[in-house]
Amino acid sequence: MKVAVVGATGLVGTKMLQVLTERNFPVTELIPVASEKSVGKEVTFKGKPYKVVNADTAISMKPDVALFSAGGSTSLEWAPKFAAAGITVIDNSSAWRMDPTKKLVVPEINGKTLTPEDKIIANPNCSTIQMVLVLNPLHQQYKINRVVVSTYQSVTGTGVKAVDQLMNERKGINGEMAYPHQIDLNVIPQIDVFLDNGYTKEEMKMVKETTKIMGDDTIRVTATTVRIPVIGGHSESVNVAFDKEFEMKEIRNILENTAGVIVVDDPANQKYPMPKDAHEKDEVFVGRIRRDETQPNTLNMWIVADNLRKGAATNAVQIAEYLHQQKWI
Ligand SMILES: NC(=O)c1ccc[n+]([C@@H]2O[C@H](COP(=O)([O-])OP(=O)(O)OC[C@H]3O[C@@H](n4cnc5c(N)ncnc54)[C@H](OP(=O)(O)O)[C@@H]3O)[C@@H](O)[C@H]2O)c1
Repeated sequence: MKVAVVGATGLVGTKMLQVLTERNFPVTELIPVASEKSVGKEVTFKGKPYKVVNADTAISMKPDVALFSAGGSTSLEWAPKFAAAGITVIDNSSAWRMDPTKKLVVPEINGKTLTPEDKIIANPNCSTIQMVLVLNPLHQQYKINRVVVSTYQSVTGTGVKAVDQLMNERKGINGEMAYPHQIDLNVIPQIDVFLDNGYTKEEMKMVKETTKIMGDDTIRVTATTVRIPVIGGHSESVNVAFDKEFEMKEIRNILENTAGVIVVDDPANQKYPMPKDAHEKDEVFVGRIRRDETQPNTLNMWIVADNLRKGAATNAVQIAEYLHQQKWI
């Protein structure tokens, strides 16, 4: 299968190449795509060098599928052109996520809604993916009515420039700034731009994407998204109120039996999920599972995942794997 990776020189694109290799996705030819400044550079895939091309050239090379992680404006401009040429696009940017004509997919939750007619498929936001993977099985059982989430997000969620900013600050180098403030030894309660309602775009992504993926717009979500000087993954404090009563034992049992979720919850031995341990793992880790004692049917949890993997590259490759299993690509 000919696979184009649009944004192949970026953090998510590089991770996609790694995940495609690890999962043995049947790539016969790789078409790495990046901006004009990178055209001609080489990327290595399965030990072979491939020359970076621009998006126009990539279309002429007729890939079967294109994994996009090159920002919203690139996706808005190029995904329709790839789709018009018959190439299925799996897009990591926010460009198509809330488009009612496009599916927003976490394969374990709503992969089966895909059809061969879906030519542009949206990959959700990293902080949303890890949260819904844990919430969905609980929703099936107890019906969620409200979620309060606060995130502690890795700098890798912002791309190469942000990792460089953190590392430069650690070394005392005055480099390019990805954030409006110092990130090292700091916490920035702003991810993406502010909207008229006082929330950031990242916060509203978590609100809207959760209901779209879980297919239930009665679920109320309120979010505070925060950037912290961490590399390995995103962490989330999640408070969930259910309609129905639950037993703690049942909650653990459900989560322990959810594909892609690992429960790490042993307070007596100080075991709980941390980004350092989630780094380079495909699973979503949940711990600190406890009843909220201030109101009925409510639970607190701590959810951690590598945002570049299940939050981006792994989820996109899983979508491609599903399409391939159906023989649609
Ligand atoms: N990081 C995450 O955790 C995460 C999670 C989910 C989704 N995403 C989304 O994935 C996308 C990429 O994120 P990232 O963290 O990988 O960013 P990044 O490290 O800054 O990489 C951006 C990539 O896009 C390429 N690019 C930029 N303009 C282009 C153009 N006009 N045509 C073709 N390629 C172009 C860049 O190529 P050059 O090297 O040539 O500039 C680079 O390969 C963003 O939309 C982001 O929102 C990121």
